[in-house]
Amino acid sequence: MISTEDIRRWIRSYADRIAEQKAYLTKLDSPIGDGDHGQNMNRGMQAAVAALEDAATPAATLQAVAMGLISKTGGASGPLYGTFFLEAAKQAPADAIDGADWAAMMRAGLDGVQRRGNAQPGDKTMVDALTPGVEALEQAAQDSPSPALPDILQAAADATREGMEATVPMVARKGRASYLGERSKGHQDPGATSSYYLFQAAADSLTSA
Ligand SMILES: Nc1ncnc2c1ncn2[C@@H]1O[C@H](COP(=O)(O)OP(=O)(O)OP(=O)(O)O)[C@@H](O)[C@H]1O
Ligand SMILES: [Mg+2]
Repeated sequence: MISTEDIRRWIRSYADRIAEQKAYLTKLDSPIGDGDHGQNMNRGMQAAVAALEDAATPAATLQAVAMGLISKTGGASGPLYGTFFLEAAKQAPADAIDGADWAAMMRAGLDGVQRRGNAQPGDKTMVDALTPGVEALEQAAQDSPSPALPDILQAAADATREGMEATVPMVARKGRASYLGERSKGHQDPGATSSYYLFQAAADSLTSA
């Protein structure tokens, strides 16, 4: 079961990973964007971490993260990740979260991102990493009524990594990268990369849950 403290650990772990990979994310955003994804996400996640202690439930914690991201990230990714966390918060049960709850929360987050940004799988965005990750969670929850969290979180992280890698040959159809058309081919999408880190952080930090 995932508790409020586990969610805090997840967000801290994600913020650490973003800080560590800030230069790499920005490097990915240079040929097909404006070279700010690392700075944007790092600023947003620092604000999210600063808001963690004030929240007492999983839903309140995820909402605080969303507010930090929305107010400080900027760019296209700030409102999109903010929406992800806001919608996940709405699906969060009052206290302990099991594997099926987690799948429903991540699905709600992804649906929110797609409603807000209108991207479909194949458009070369964060949606290409999040979609297979959420599908892996749903599949695991369907296969077993109480799936072991460590297994399903790592399976989902692996699926987001594959989704991220699959963005390399895609032609971008959303965001700044879409202005490049065919020339966006051959580059990994920065937002798909930060989404893989989000799911890998869950596997790294929630496996003792
Ligand atoms: N409509 C969208 N739906 C989903 N994700 C999107 C969309 N537009 C952009 N993104 C994601 O946002 C990432 C870029 O985030 P960044 O923080 O660099 O903001 P930005 O520079 O304002 O974005 P962009 O230049 O793509 O408009 C992209 O790599 C992509 O994954
Ligand atoms: Mg950018």
